[in-house]
Amino acid sequence: MREQPYRIGVIPGDGIGPDVTSEALKVLAAAAPVAGMRYELIEYPWSSALYLDDGVLMPETALEEYRTLDALFLGALGDPRVERGVIERAVLMTIRLGLDLYINLRPVQLYSATLTPLKNVEPSDVDMVVVRENTEDVYVGLGGTMRRGTPDEIAVAEMVFTRRGVERTLRYAFELAASRRRHLTLVDKANAIRAQEIWRRTLEEIAPEYPGVETDAMYVDAAAMFMVTDPSRFDVIVTTNLFGDILTDLGAAIQGGLGGAASGNLHPGQVSLFEPIHGSAPDIAGKGVASPVGAVSAMSMLLDYIGEREAADMIGIAVKELLSSGRVPSADARSGLTTEQVGTMIADEVRQMAASPD
Ligand code: IPM
Ligand code: MG
Repeated sequence: MREQPYRIGVIPGDGIGPDVTSEALKVLAAAAPVAGMRYELIEYPWSSALYLDDGVLMPETALEEYRTLDALFLGALGDPRVERGVIERAVLMTIRLGLDLYINLRPVQLYSATLTPLKNVEPSDVDMVVVRENTEDVYVGLGGTMRRGTPDEIAVAEMVFTRRGVERTLRYAFELAASRRRHLTLVDKANAIRAQEIWRRTLEEIAPEYPGVETDAMYVDAAAMFMVTDPSRFDVIVTTNLFGDILTDLGAAIQGGLGGAASGNLHPGQVSLFEPIHGSAPDIAGKGVASPVGAVSAMSMLLDYIGEREAADMIGIAVKELLSSGRVPSADARSGLTTEQVGTMIADEVRQMAASPD
């Protein structure tokens, strides 16, 4: 057991963010003693509400403090009362870019055939991981507008890929594939976007270093189609920031909804950020019906990342058991259970597992 308690930064954020974060922390509190791990939480108030009330956004100096933590957890961000993108850029983008979290790891896994909107699909058909590049592409914010508001307006956003950024992402994906079913699919749009050819070239160049991994490449439009018509063809998908954003909402849908999907924003070896992939869902905020499954699963990813495999696995198994048995009928707001009920069920399941380890 590690001497020092882990220090975990928590940003509950906006809308349903605080609700699902409480449940993720409830489950952490259940798993930690069983795994013999100690931790300390450092809560950060960055949210649209704070910005609206006091005009405060996350200062860039917060990044220095985050570097001293073991990991960060984020609930959700976004509020219709704040200008679009302000809070997302001030918190999420600043952390992703500032801490150079170049991998966005997004597993897509189906726990029960009843959860997916797809027909004739078994859980074993949907088991993939999307490795989304997380610091480049149109997300770098390069571009702008000219003659704004006139008929001659020009709006430009540059899609940026660096050799270093592409290569480190591909290498991560190759290694991940080597630990799974050894199949890696590059998804791009290199036929229409010539700059994306850098992904194909780099893949071909480094592939011989990973002889056990079979590779293929697919355009993003075809990949979207196959995720729906034949998801079993995918093991690890590696893709650009924007395409990864889009494909992982699709991935969440085929595994049963946005409420159940989790992600890790990683810089392997350094402090990383874990979050459910859903947003702040202002329409259901405060109603107590949001699914905490994505947030709880993100907590499991966090624990796995910091090396607490046992705690991570217990949570993962508990979530899988509750969803596959139908005791939690869905990972969305229509499960008929409250956010708190689902969180408590997962925490109880973890405790029971500890009481009877087999
Ligand atoms: C995600 C989100 C973000 C993104 C938004 C909130 C900027 O959709 O994490 O997938 O586009 O990366
Ligand atoms: Mg998204």
